[in-house]
Amino acid sequence: MRSLLFIPADSEKKLAKGLASGADCLILDLEDSIAPEAKQLAREQAYAFLASALREHQRPRLYVRVNGLNSGLTEDDLSIVMQAPPDGILLPKSVNGASLQHLGALLAVKEAENDIADGATKIMAIVTETPAAIFNMGSYAGASQRLEGLTWGAEDLAAALGAETNRGTDGGYTLPFLLARSLTLFAASSAGVLPIDAVHGNFRDLARLRLECEEAKRDGFAGKMAIHPGQIDIINEVFSPSAESVAKARAIVAAFAAEPHAGVINYEGEMLDVPHLSKARRLLASIGET
Ligand code: COA
Ligand code: MG
Repeated sequence: MRSLLFIPADSEKKLAKGLASGADCLILDLEDSIAPEAKQLAREQAYAFLASALREHQRPRLYVRVNGLNSGLTEDDLSIVMQAPPDGILLPKSVNGASLQHLGALLAVKEAENDIADGATKIMAIVTETPAAIFNMGSYAGASQRLEGLTWGAEDLAAALGAETNRGTDGGYTLPFLLARSLTLFAASSAGVLPIDAVHGNFRDLARLRLECEEAKRDGFAGKMAIHPGQIDIINEVFSPSAESVAKARAIVAAFAAEPHAGVINYEGEMLDVPHLSKARRLLASIGET
C-alpha cells in the first residue's frame, strides 16, 4: 500500500472523487474531519459508499477511520460501517497494544453479528497522537493478528504538547516530531507490519510532498497517507520500486540461489550477505513476486 487517501465521509462529492484518484487505499473518515453534528450522516454515507464500492471489480482497499476509543462514538461507528464491511479500520489516538485488542474485541462482535469471518477485518493504527503513546511503541508487536500497518501524525501530538509548531524554519519537522516518526518506523518493523508516513497537510506544496516521500522511502516507510487527490500520483511514483531496483533485487536473489551454501557472495565487486538478500526478497514481495 503506497498511497492512502483520507476522504471526509460526510462529502458525497469527495467520496465519488476518491475512487478515481488512483490511491491504493481510501480511508473514509468519521473522526477529526467530521463535525459532531455530521457524525451520523458520515456513518450512513460511508456505509452506502462501501456497499457500492465493494462490488467494483477493480477497487482500492477500503478502510474507515472510526472515532477513538475514548470518544464514546466508536461502537456507533462500527455498528453502521461493519454492515458493509470495510477491509479494515484505522484507529486514531491509539495508546498501546491493548488499544488494538480493545478494538479487535469490538470488531469480533460486529463480525459475528454480520456473518463476517472472525478476524477478517484488519486494523491500522495512528500511534503518535498522545504523549503517553510515545512510551508504548514496543507494545504493538504481537498485540493483534489483525494489525496491518502503523502510522503517525504530528497535528494532534503538537496540540497535546502545546507546541507552537511542529515544523522548523526549513519546513522540516522539529525534533520531537521526528522522534515520533522514527519510533513509528521501529514499532511497525518490530511488529512485522507496514510503516506508513504521516499526511502532508499543505497540499499545494508538491515539492515538499515529494521530498517527504523520498525521505520516508529512504528510511523504510512503505507508503504515505494523503489528504488531497493531487498528492496521489507523487506518492505512488516515489513508493513504487524503480525498474533498476527490481532488476537488481532479482539478480541478487538469483546470485544467492546459484551459491546455495554461501553466506556471503561477491556481486559485481560488492560484498553481499544475509541482510542484502532479505532486502531484495522484501522488495520483490512488495510487487507480488516471491
Ligand atoms: N478526497 C476526495 N476528493 C477530494 C479530496 C479528498 N480528500 N480533497 C479534495 N477533493 C476534491 C474536491 O472536492 C475538489 O473537487 P471538484 O474539482 O469536483 O470541486 C477537487 O478535489 C479539488 O479540491 P480543492 O479545491 O483543491 O480543495 P478543497 O478546498 O475542495 O478541499 C480540503 C481541501 C483540505 C478541505 C480537502 O482536501 C479535504 O477535505 N481533505 C481531507 C481532509 C481529511 O480527511 N482530514 C482528516 C485526515 S488528516
Ligand atoms: Mg487527528
